[in-house]
Amino acid sequence: PVIGILRNHPRTPADVVVVHSAPTADEMLFRDELRAMDAAGRIRFVERITGRDGAEVRLPVHRIGDVVPDWRERHTWACGPTGMLDEAEEHWAAHALADRLHTERFRTRLAAVGDGGEIDFSASGTTVEADGSTTILDAGEGAGVLMKSGCRMGICFNCVVPLRDGSVRDLRTGEITTATPEDPVLIQTCVSAAAGACQLDL
Ligand code: FES
Repeated sequence: PVIGILRNHPRTPADVVVVHSAPTADEMLFRDELRAMDAAGRIRFVERITGRDGAEVRLPVHRIGDVVPDWRERHTWACGPTGMLDEAEEHWAAHALADRLHTERFRTRLAAVGDGGEIDFSASGTTVEADGSTTILDAGEGAGVLMKSGCRMGICFNCVVPLRDGSVRDLRTGEITTATPEDPVLIQTCVSAAAGACQLDL
């Protein structure tokens, strides 16, 4: 959503700061485009490559002042995982600034619910039981599996992994994808849920 706003106002004179956190450079969506906007003087782009090993995988919301000292005077458009947006709403409300925060939540539009089932993350030796509306990405993260992700809404393909065996359902379309050990298939974990037992190469 943020990149769309920036693209749609290419010549609007504005004082805009874009703070973007990702575990790795490869997972930073639109990085080159945002760098170009920064170089052109359209925005101030704050990149945070946080790594996967530390406890801090993104900028804690309460430390927004570290990178945007005048955040209280600005309107803020935030998008990202639910937990981060919940924190942001609490933080802005605690400073009596709720009217200056505008949030866009990553949410997969559920067109269908799968059957659910046991997900075997074979490479990490983790097995988790998930219902038919829980994405494999959420199920894996909840079980402590190191999962690649980006947009979490089916756009960036950063979350693609091989499905080694079993079936998953695409929660946007209801479509079932089935793999066998002889014929694995790449799936997007952020928009797929187990449709019976399945095994992933993670
Ligand atoms: S995280 Fe972007 S497509 Fe899955």
